[in-house]
Amino acid sequence: MQINLDQFLTTYSNESIPQAIRDEIEAILRAEWPIKLKDKNIPADWDVTHHIVLSDNTGVLSYAAIVRKNLSHHSQTYNIIGISGAITRPDQRGKGNGRKVITEATNIIKNSNVDLALFNTAQVGLYEKFGFERLPEAKILKGNPTNPEIYPEDVFALFISEKAKGHRKDFETIPIYFGQRVW
Ligand SMILES: CC(C)(COP(=O)(O)OP(=O)(O)OC[C@H]1O[C@@H](n2cnc3c(N)ncnc32)[C@H](O)[C@@H]1OP(=O)(O)O)[C@@H](O)C(=O)NCCC(=O)NCCS
Repeated sequence: MQINLDQFLTTYSNESIPQAIRDEIEAILRAEWPIKLKDKNIPADWDVTHHIVLSDNTGVLSYAAIVRKNLSHHSQTYNIIGISGAITRPDQRGKGNGRKVITEATNIIKNSNVDLALFNTAQVGLYEKFGFERLPEAKILKGNPTNPEIYPEDVFALFISEKAKGHRKDFETIPIYFGQRVW
């Protein structure tokens, strides 16, 4: 999809994204969020379904990944989706680039055959602009399942399926064990 004469918004699958673009994104992500060696690999139960890349002739401007997994919560299994690694190159922030990528990510999520979007973020005020709901009472747990830690960032959701809508209260009131890591 062409945005204007200078920018291109491209959505790749995990199989089709060129290695050079993957490397460029990785460098932008790691400058923002250095990663521990043990967390280098994507957990086996996550699928990275889309890489959304806004670029121009200087390279990648802004990026987000869409990730999916199954989540067991209060005797139910949900097909959940989220946005991971949303980032704009530091010299390109505050110019509407992130908005283009997150708008595309939101459209993909809304058109996905999943139960709900669920993720954490510390960027309060950002995802509300795209229709995601902050769940102020919700708690996401991660790490050791027998002694998990509460992940300190706010929880955001978009309830999509009738099943997820019907169990909304479970997400709001019962701590959600997400897995070893959050996305
Ligand atoms: C968050 C981030 C991706 C936004 O990208 P950006 O290109 O600067 O965003 P835009 O200029 O397109 O702004 C989009 C909208 O979000 C708002 N916004 C941008 N950053 C925000 C933030 N951190 N918190 C709340 N709102 C924010 C803008 O005001 C703008 O609103 P408007 O379009 O209604 O005026 C970018 O600041 C970034 O890479 N931050 C560091 C990495 C990070 O924290 N990522 C988020 C992980 S959840």
